[in-house]
Amino acid sequence: MRRLTSGSDRSDKVLFPLLSATVLLGISATAAHNVFGGGYDYRETVSVWFRGVFTLQPHPAAVADAPLLFQLHAVTACLLFAAWPFTRLVHVWSVPFGYLFRPYLVYRRRAATPAPVVDHTPASEAPVRRAA
Ligand code: HEM
Repeated sequence: MRRLTSGSDRSDKVLFPLLSATVLLGISATAAHNVFGGGYDYRETVSVWFRGVFTLQPHPAAVADAPLLFQLHAVTACLLFAAWPFTRLVHVWSVPFGYLFRPYLVYRRRAATPAPVVDHTPASEAPVRRAA
């Protein structure tokens, strides 16, 4: 566990639960209503609201009566979008153009002979050698 968290920072502690909640709520909404349920046409409600957000003319009433799972899915997604710039998700927007123009990296040995292999195994863990 320690190895797992050593590469995480504080923003991951917000990001991972939000990302998981969004994905799980999305799957649950689909499963509950459109796989096992009677069917729910989100195109007439959730999609109308979401399109309106992009055109700066949101219709909150369109989503007001949508099933709770779709509403919670949209809320966690919006929180995720808000947290986006402050988490490692920000890298999604970075295009590594620099790689095209940077000088080549040349890896080569400094010494003509291979470097000696140093054994860092502590003496207590080293295999026991028996005299032949
Ligand atoms: C406000 C933004 C979002 C809206 C309005 C939205 C809306 C929806 C809707 C209507 C569905 C149901 C689709 C169906 O039943 O066929 C759905 C499913 C799903 N959503 Fe979202 N979503 C949003 C953001 C996200 C984000 C950011 C993620 C992932 C990071 C995500 C992951 C999923 C998943 C995994 C499903 C279930 C798979 C599927 O039905 O295809 N959603 N979402």
